[in-house]
Amino acid sequence: MAGDRENFSSRLAVIMALAGSAIGLGNIWRFPYMVGKHGGGAFIIIYIVCSLLVSLPVFFSEVVLGKYTRRGALGAVRKVAPKWSWAGYMGIIASFVITSYYSVVGGWSLDYFVRSIFGGFKGLSFEASAGIFASMSASGWETLVCFFVFLLLTAIIVAVGVDKGIGNFSKVMMPLLFLMIVLIVIKSMSLPGAKQGLEYLMKPDFSKLDGPGIAAALGQSFFSLSLGVGCVLTYSSYMKENEKIVPTGLWTALFDTFFALLAGFAVMPAVFSVEGMEPGAGPSLVFETLPVIFSRMGTVVPIIFFFAVLIAALSSSISMYEVVVAWLVDEKHISRKKAVPLVFVAAAVLGAVCAVAPKVFSACDFATSNIFMTLGAFVFSIVVGWIMPEEAVRSTFSNRIYPFVRFLIKWVAPVAIAAIAVTNLL
Ligand code: TRP
Repeated sequence: MAGDRENFSSRLAVIMALAGSAIGLGNIWRFPYMVGKHGGGAFIIIYIVCSLLVSLPVFFSEVVLGKYTRRGALGAVRKVAPKWSWAGYMGIIASFVITSYYSVVGGWSLDYFVRSIFGGFKGLSFEASAGIFASMSASGWETLVCFFVFLLLTAIIVAVGVDKGIGNFSKVMMPLLFLMIVLIVIKSMSLPGAKQGLEYLMKPDFSKLDGPGIAAALGQSFFSLSLGVGCVLTYSSYMKENEKIVPTGLWTALFDTFFALLAGFAVMPAVFSVEGMEPGAGPSLVFETLPVIFSRMGTVVPIIFFFAVLIAALSSSISMYEVVVAWLVDEKHISRKKAVPLVFVAAAVLGAVCAVAPKVFSACDFATSNIFMTLGAFVFSIVVGWIMPEEAVRSTFSNRIYPFVRFLIKWVAPVAIAAIAVTNLL
């Protein structure tokens, strides 16, 4: 029934959807902090090298698998390398788990977006802001309601379909997201801390870049490009036959890295504009520090910022949700309209547990980003580099670039991933 399978209707839709998946909370709350911690410009250079030599080959492997088989994560791996099917299941489980806990954070951004509309951060002190975050995440019902609404928004976009839902949403929202972040960058750069913030981000300090720093760069690059769980694979299975995958991959990586840098330029000058403020990562940065600083810049700035966070989170959560839906549609022959609510119920249960039990939340995060994603990325490059019929791989690339890409997929990516996994275990 290949003819019935959905497709993205245009190149723009594919690139925007892939960029939407890539650009997310990882760019906003992890990248700027990691850059500062691991030596500024030095980290950025290593990050770009890792992205080009390791992440992009894995990205291309997923694209080849999806495009060639026209199936989701499980169907694709099963078709070309039946013995490795477990990796397909692993990708689906990982995507499901990430959807669940990621949507909890998505719920927080929704909560903060609504609060900012009602001027909830006006004149706030840092202590009061930390209090708001603590009481929001501790009060079960508020976090739960926002989580459900966020998950529901995700489900609705996915239910509308690949092109009309995911494609159209991304085509409209991604440019808007860029616009919003640029506005915040401009505002932020006019603050007194701008110079210090820029130095924190850009000044290369190679002495801070050690083994863990390099491993962190690769891990961040994988997470940011949504690799290793079948997101890129699944979206690629909806590409048209004649889609050129190398430019598509390069554009996605470029947008993703550019957005991460913009987020850094939006966030760090703001943080350094406050005397004695130390930049942190994760929830405390986005939900405690920034509301205070941005609300000092006027009522609109926090609204724009939290709307941007919300859109970035939504465009990522739909990509993970789609991995699970694609499996139900392709392999279990359930219609999209039925698959979406099934996934919703399951993710609502796991996400609700994550929302009220921080230990479960961290365990889900740790298992998926440290184990499942790395293993998945390794398997995808092995399957495409060593097991898939070479003709099928060759036909996806131009003759000029093929030998180089093949070398990266076959040797560089798996060896680098294995080396870093081993270093992390030691
Ligand atoms: N890349 C997204 C971010 O930066 C998150 C994301 C979407 C993701 N799909 C993924 C992470 C798949 C890992 C695997 O926030």
